[in-house]
Amino acid sequence: MAGGHFVSQGGSGNYEGRVTPFVVITCLVAATGGLIFGYDIGISGGVTSMDEFLIKFFPSVYRKEKDLSGDSSQYCKFDSHLLTLFTSSLYIAALIASFFASATTRVFGRKVSMFCGGIIFLCGAVLNGAAMNVTMLIIGRILLGVGIGYANQSVPVYLSEMAPPKVRGALNIGFQMAITIGIFLANFVNYGTSKMKENGWRYSLAIAGVPAIIMTVGSVFLPDTPNSLIERGQQEKARAMLEKIRGTENVHEEFQDLLEASETSKQVQHPWKNIRQRKYRPQLVITLLIPFFQQLTGINVIMFYAPVLFKTLGFGDSASLMAAVITGLVNVFATLVSIFTVDKFGRRALFLEGGAQMLICQIAVGSIIASVFGVTGEGTFSKSLGNVTVFLICVYVAAFAWSWGPLGWLVPSEIFPLEIRSAGQSINVSVNMFFTFIIAQIFLTMLCHLKFGLFFFFGGFVLIMTTFIFFFLPETKGVPIEEMNRVWKAHWFWGKYIPDDAVGLGHGKPTSHEV
Ligand code: BGC
Repeated sequence: MAGGHFVSQGGSGNYEGRVTPFVVITCLVAATGGLIFGYDIGISGGVTSMDEFLIKFFPSVYRKEKDLSGDSSQYCKFDSHLLTLFTSSLYIAALIASFFASATTRVFGRKVSMFCGGIIFLCGAVLNGAAMNVTMLIIGRILLGVGIGYANQSVPVYLSEMAPPKVRGALNIGFQMAITIGIFLANFVNYGTSKMKENGWRYSLAIAGVPAIIMTVGSVFLPDTPNSLIERGQQEKARAMLEKIRGTENVHEEFQDLLEASETSKQVQHPWKNIRQRKYRPQLVITLLIPFFQQLTGINVIMFYAPVLFKTLGFGDSASLMAAVITGLVNVFATLVSIFTVDKFGRRALFLEGGAQMLICQIAVGSIIASVFGVTGEGTFSKSLGNVTVFLICVYVAAFAWSWGPLGWLVPSEIFPLEIRSAGQSINVSVNMFFTFIIAQIFLTMLCHLKFGLFFFFGGFVLIMTTFIFFFLPETKGVPIEEMNRVWKAHWFWGKYIPDDAVGLGHGKPTSHEV
């Protein structure tokens, strides 16, 4: 089993059953899983822009920021490897932990992984809140990362397995929604704690423990999924559980599908070897590129470093944090747009529109910064130009939030045939975490060297990825997940990779879901 947002199997998908209270509780637990991830994305940028925090842990960065070192370039104020290590250590820990979590989730069940994730994350939050030195800080971040690795691996799988098939797509984006709420809450908390006379940063870091406690306690009381029970040989229990969560005894068809899916996946001994076969090439390429492109939109520059970025633009402390709160709010509400449109207008329309909108904003922001700071990095933003810049950044964030944000998780999770779906999903999660780490680690250095060109750099990638989507991503809207091969077969480029027998000849013509 793999992590990330997982769309689980299903045959016809027309099972009886309703959305029971059990499923609602499932959503809440999934939400706390997304919350801890989002809270973390949002918290570090605000904390690293607080003077007290910098003085205590990164005094040289503080001196540079206040121009005490004689270096007057705005672009390089925050360039410190130790400071970026604080932010990015979490992602490398999460990447490594998700492989261990994969085994835990398979052998011991989803709730054990959630419980482990919650506890480890909680330890990280305590260590961070009580930090006396940089070592405690970074060890705390690593523990948080391990917790997130476990949570991101198990919660979405749990969610997809508990959800009735007809609401699975919306629930998938629901997880992204929770991430954005977590980011927003973190920005909001930072805004509040920055006003405290002392130890504000401690509260910011320690409050991460709250969603972790909810997730840990929740995991103790939740039942395991029928899929996991079958996987561990407890068929009777699994059937009883399925009846309970669907609120009906008529679960025969779904139960049979679960048994079959479990049998099929047992037959594929080497999914990692299988996935390299030519017939899976389209899906493999897409699942490698989508998380890479998602991070190369540059979104996490805003998510991690919005307050730092706004300070670089000359905003005051409090205005910077407020601007981050605003972008956080835009992120939440714009995600709603994708929930309501993704099955109506399709994935391609959102990708293409979002890409164009991001590109325009990036060019505009880059040009404004160039006109004010030039290459020397000296200058000051006027109030009105500052506001225009914040507005443009909000428009950019909105575009991401209804395109690459949710779709970066949804599309890879729905394009693979069952036998290699979990391996494909693992690739998606790890590529995503890896590039999140890279961006977090090198952004401040890039800002220092590329200056305003940084916005053009990410803009260039947005142009490439939007062109790629236009030519190479077929529409997957409304296509049953187990019929997806027909979409690839009908595609002008990928069609040649899909053998005829993979699309079940004799079941009608390939669909017209092509470019
Ligand atoms: C991405 C994160 C990003 C977040 C922003 C997610 O889909 O994977 O890296 O910070 O969206 O909302």
